[in-house]
Amino acid sequence: MGLTADPDDRSSSPDVAPCFQEVLTQRLSRRGLLKLIAAGGLMACVPRQPLHGAEAQSPAPELDFAEIPHGRDDTVHVPSGHEVQVLLRWGDPLFADMPDFDPLAQDAAGQRRRFGYNNDFVAFMPFRDGVDQDARGLLVVNHESTQAPLMFPGSPSPLRLTRPQCDVEIAAHGVSVVEVRHRQGQWRVQLDSSHNRRVTPETPARLSGPAAGHPRLRTSYSSDGVRSLGTYGNCAGGVTPWGTVLTAEENVQFYFTGDPRRGPEAENYRRFGRYGWGMFAWGRHYPRWNLEQEPREPLHTGWIVEIDPYDAEFVPRKRTALGRFKHEGCSVHLNSDGRVVAYMGDDQRFEYIYRFLSAGRFDPHDRAGNLSLLDEGELSVADFRADGTVVWHALTFGHGPLTPRNGFHSQADVVLDARRAADLMGATRMDRPEEVEVNPLSGEVFVMLTKNQKRASTDTDAVNPRGPNRFGHVLTLVPPGGDHAMPEYRWELFLLAGDPQQRGHGAVYHPDISRHGWFLAPDNCAFDRHGRLWITTDGNDAAGIADGIWACETSGARRALTRHFLRAPLGAEPSGPCFTPGDTTLFCAIQHPGEGSTFDHPSTRWPDFDQRMPPRPALVAVTRSDGGNIGG
Ligand code: FEO
Ligand code: CA
Ligand code: CA
Repeated sequence: MGLTADPDDRSSSPDVAPCFQEVLTQRLSRRGLLKLIAAGGLMACVPRQPLHGAEAQSPAPELDFAEIPHGRDDTVHVPSGHEVQVLLRWGDPLFADMPDFDPLAQDAAGQRRRFGYNNDFVAFMPFRDGVDQDARGLLVVNHESTQAPLMFPGSPSPLRLTRPQCDVEIAAHGVSVVEVRHRQGQWRVQLDSSHNRRVTPETPARLSGPAAGHPRLRTSYSSDGVRSLGTYGNCAGGVTPWGTVLTAEENVQFYFTGDPRRGPEAENYRRFGRYGWGMFAWGRHYPRWNLEQEPREPLHTGWIVEIDPYDAEFVPRKRTALGRFKHEGCSVHLNSDGRVVAYMGDDQRFEYIYRFLSAGRFDPHDRAGNLSLLDEGELSVADFRADGTVVWHALTFGHGPLTPRNGFHSQADVVLDARRAADLMGATRMDRPEEVEVNPLSGEVFVMLTKNQKRASTDTDAVNPRGPNRFGHVLTLVPPGGDHAMPEYRWELFLLAGDPQQRGHGAVYHPDISRHGWFLAPDNCAFDRHGRLWITTDGNDAAGIADGIWACETSGARRALTRHFLRAPLGAEPSGPCFTPGDTTLFCAIQHPGEGSTFDHPSTRWPDFDQRMPPRPALVAVTRSDGGNIGG
């Protein structure tokens, strides 16, 4: 690997950046795969033959659902022949001894035993006995954030919460683990399951990997720099081959009161970003979240956290080897040599895409041993070139500029200051990397870049070809020979989001796209077992349509032909799409319904439509009426 030989080769250089049309031509016609059509403003790439990553697989079965139209109302829409069940709502009990939720009588003790707020990532974990894998398992769900004005009567500002309200809000963050079963056509929560638990910002946790025990991590609570507490700001995540769940800490700066420009970590916090500090009242009530009293506490957050859903006693582990930044998610892939690869996006404008490659190898007979695989390995960051290569630069102490001269004294410093290390290694500044997922059949890596309105037209590059990028795009990475340990891959643009009828959007899709097949702001994604891609959005309101899910094949002549599958209710973002192993159920988190309105005057009362109930974030299960596979 090593430093980029020629800095001018960096695709982020505005001087060498071609316009996006040239880029597409460079990137696609090179293989005779591109035909650009200009018809009524529609520009579309025509992948008439399978692209690189799809060559090894036979085309997946065609998606068989009848596409739904764009729209905007306060229900969840899916194609005819499908059913939507609201399975778990904010406040729903996770234990049999809990009464029904009453939004007028909330307390923290109760919230710690109920489903949390703003569900985001969803993992369905079948039981390891292999029985009824599509009908029983554990759901692991992130609760990314809270919205005080929608949670409490009187619609308080998040900064003015009383301490009891603040405690409810803290308890509504974190993760839920809950057993569910499918019987007689319905999913049911097993309230008597010993697996059910909440992980909150107050659950004991531990740091592991190269930063664990470092003096920079010592706080009043953590005199050893190893003990830690809980998790919050959990956006997306991932599942490991050994059956644990990874939850990603993203916008953790929201929770800290005080001035991040002062104190021993001011430089770290500057690079972590000035945006959004102190948006919650937690620091008013607790020293832990007050920078004046605990200036190093933010370093305990911004990690990938591993949870064993099958073991309620398992202490969550913050895997510092995977770096500290605003983690969107963490997609884990088992490489052909047994090493484990994790792909991660850092979701902020102009931030980076990272890869972790484990030093050890997965052993299917040694689960306990596998639990340390994410503690040792090579973290690297992506540097995209206009010629279609992407180079992974190792973020390794002593390598290139990552030395004491630049303030790095150990690998602990490198992972704690991962963004700064990546800057020095010449990483490519991306348009907000959200979820990164590996196609389980082809090994092709898909990256959702949600948007970046701050990218100037003079600051585009081959891989971020629009400035401003108002609508986002999808990118793929192809490891040579399917080897995810290689230092260089190839990359492709998969689609450029936007409305293809609007010439100014510069959208690029498959030419056969319908008028409902386009979207803005790709965010999460999932693959079904046929390697078909299901994309969720968070930002369609800019076009006056609801956010939703779009699905497409990733191989064959219909590669990238996106079709509208699900529409979320007013103000909501669908997230965490997740299939059961046989694709008979698609779970989807409906996050922040009624966003922007208040408890007292909600814009919707989805999903209860009960005058006593505010809108509630909720997890829905989509099935086919005939019991068949989603997508066919
Ligand atoms: Fe939590 Fe990047 O969305
Ligand atoms: Ca997200
Ligand atoms: Ca988002």
